[in-house]
Amino acid sequence: MKITPEDFLDRKWPTLSITKKIESRNLSDLLVLTSVEGKMPNAPKEWSDEVKLVEDEFKGKEGQLIFLYKNGKKEKRLALLGLGKKEKIEKRSLQKAFFELASHLNEKELSKVSVVVPTDTTLKTEEVLQAVADGLLLGSYIFPFHKGKTDEKEKKRVTSFALIGADEKWLSDLKERETVARAVFFSQDLINANADLITPGFLGKCAQAIAKRHKEIKAKVWTKAQAEKAGWGLFLAVGQGSIKSEPVVIEASYTAGKAKKGRHTLLVGKGITFDTGGLNLKPTGGMETMKCDMSGAAITLATMWAAAMLKMPVQLSLLIPSTENPIGPDSFKPGDVFTSYLGKTVEITNTDAEGRLILADALAWGEKNLKPDQIIDLATLTGACAVALGPECAGLFSNDDKLAAKIVEAGQNSGELLWRLPLIESYKKQQLKSHVADIANAGGREGGAITAALFLQTFVTKTPWAHLDIAGCAYTKYVAPPYPKHATGYGVRLLIDFLKI
Ligand code: BES
Ligand code: MN
Ligand code: ZN
Repeated sequence: MKITPEDFLDRKWPTLSITKKIESRNLSDLLVLTSVEGKMPNAPKEWSDEVKLVEDEFKGKEGQLIFLYKNGKKEKRLALLGLGKKEKIEKRSLQKAFFELASHLNEKELSKVSVVVPTDTTLKTEEVLQAVADGLLLGSYIFPFHKGKTDEKEKKRVTSFALIGADEKWLSDLKERETVARAVFFSQDLINANADLITPGFLGKCAQAIAKRHKEIKAKVWTKAQAEKAGWGLFLAVGQGSIKSEPVVIEASYTAGKAKKGRHTLLVGKGITFDTGGLNLKPTGGMETMKCDMSGAAITLATMWAAAMLKMPVQLSLLIPSTENPIGPDSFKPGDVFTSYLGKTVEITNTDAEGRLILADALAWGEKNLKPDQIIDLATLTGACAVALGPECAGLFSNDDKLAAKIVEAGQNSGELLWRLPLIESYKKQQLKSHVADIANAGGREGGAITAALFLQTFVTKTPWAHLDIAGCAYTKYVAPPYPKHATGYGVRLLIDFLKI
């Protein structure tokens, strides 16, 4: 089976609805009740006997989940979900509880699920609803393409979650969460799929497929020859060893409604479709997850798609330099010097520090030619950042405190963790000094995330710019709710929340 961008764009996901009437639970395959620690859920009368039976067992502890059956009948089920101590309930803990519920349901054959919305918290109604929605939706993600009998598994999944007790006025808010989740899933699919499928050309086709669906999006896919003409010497150096799949640059834009003046945002996403390390080859243990090295590309593309689906009144540009970092006789070589779009020359001290090279040309070209008011790049840039912050937190670097503060605020809204790290200027001279060129592409191990960010900063001349190093959180071996293991899609919700500020 040949997978196309449409296969990812058109996947069916659970929908959310609101229902006031508790009777409608009778139409569903499962009713979910919640309670805080030390309390029992408020169960409907016909379930009071069954709920009594588990009074000793169910403590309402965070994440506790118990299923009850009526008369042994499969279709009559009740679930009790614990939310933990009332004063400790926050957005992230609610997301987590409902994420775990939904992930659990991925293994069960239930189609319609009703959930009584928790009210016993100190959070605002909308915060509760958003957290419940995000948890339920994001917990429903599965990537079935690499398992046999894909259709069978997809057919048996939850089709709808009805939220009981919420006010109808929140429906549009929930539909928006549904749309953003759809974009998150799209990015997850692109990251989880084989590197042999997700080539630079395939990413280009994705951008074009999205542009075809939304007239507000314009997408161009530059060929290698066009990148040559534009003078992207660093980008082309990384891609020069590719035999099967040619490097491309995706250039896209989106505007709708009355976009705020002075807020033209350029998103730049690292699109290395596989990072072997090049001639400075990665060792076994370091290469197995490197299909994820286009996460920045997937996330920025998905963000533009979400913005278009939501018809957000913003002005967005997107630049994705995309290539493999291959190994072969034509690969770029350590010690060689290349000239960037800006004219600065770079000595290659390590071919595995390729992300900063392709981003440098994109940042410089984008700043000069698109004239954005602010630039944000997302990149799985350094193992050092993953080591420093672990799998749930991105590193944020910025030359502008206001921009950085907005991104921090967006993270608080979406529940995605990030931490600002310093751009310590002296490290540049200390570690990126070259005797043969203007700058070297790689420093030592010390402060590796910082030197990478400093390298990028060199190619941004005056525009407020922020760099998110997502090497740790884009693809993980841990489940970190509301994201599953492997591709997380970290960043799509963050960027959408950022665009709202
Ligand atoms: N794509 C990697 C960074 C990475 C590591 C992403 C682990 C996700 C998980 C990047 O291109 C890279 O190889 N960076 C090097 C830089 C070094 C050679 C200066 C690294 O981190 O080791
Ligand atoms: Mn690398
Ligand atoms: Zn890389």
